Amino acid sequence: MVLPVYKQGWSPEDIAWSQFDRSRAEPWMVEAIKSAALVEYNAPDYVSYLKRVFPDPAFHPVIEQWGAEETQHGRVLGRWAEMADPSFKLEEAVARFRAGYRPAHFAGNEEASIRGSRRGELIARCVVESGTSSYYTAIKDATAEPVLQEIAGRIAADEYRHYKLFYETQKIQPEPALSFWKKVRIAIGRMTESDDDEICYSHYCAIVPADQVTAKPYDRRAYGKNLFGHTLRIYRRRHVQKVIQMVAKAVGADPQGTVVKFLGSTAWRVLRLRASMAGIAQKAAA
Ligand SMILES: [Fe+2]
Ligand SMILES: [Fe+2]
Repeated sequence: MVLPVYKQGWSPEDIAWSQFDRSRAEPWMVEAIKSAALVEYNAPDYVSYLKRVFPDPAFHPVIEQWGAEETQHGRVLGRWAEMADPSFKLEEAVARFRAGYRPAHFAGNEEASIRGSRRGELIARCVVESGTSSYYTAIKDATAEPVLQEIAGRIAADEYRHYKLFYETQKIQPEPALSFWKKVRIAIGRMTESDDDEICYSHYCAIVPADQVTAKPYDRRAYGKNLFGHTLRIYRRRHVQKVIQMVAKAVGADPQGTVVKFLGSTAWRVLRLRASMAGIAQKAAA
């Protein structure tokens, strides 16, 4: 079987929308895609923030291109979710999400990165792109719906290119290099960020229709748990191993080393344990 190679510069018109098969769009996957659409579609706020952190005008077209691709991810995921659930309206859900989620580093005019330095910001970006690259690869592998397979494959390839972009940009920053442990601390901090409401609140706005907001008020813990359950159903061992390898490379560790392999298998075991505690069936396939 020859797998398709998705190159940069695709557009929504390139997707074979006519192949959509609603019977293969599982409700829990539809919920996961709705939330992903909201977070991706909110990219313009990240563009403004990154342009402040990286004032060199030569880098701004790169940031804008990155933001345009992330916004396009949101648009196509939203379109797929609207086809799977015609009651879902991307623009309406995004408007509610943006009205309720506005972190301080988006609203302010600060030029400093919240990660402490530009190199630190780029490590955090690599962590995010590692996560999205593995997440969309896992979605492509987890779904039987052909249009979502294509969309997730295209987005995963974009996210991997974004990772490479931030990884290479980190190496040419005119700042002193960060120590290995400083990079590790930034990466762990970004992976375990718990005071940020982006993921839980986007999931709430994505799956609770506007006319049910009063009846179903926001409960961060409940909606976070719901989305975590979907994530556990999506990931397989190889995807977890891949994200650990990409983060390891970003902080300067050997992605093929014994420690990284151990971390990958430990992370997978923890995920499976949490899946079984939450009563979620997760295939043990590699
Ligand atoms: Fe994206
Ligand atoms: Fe990305």
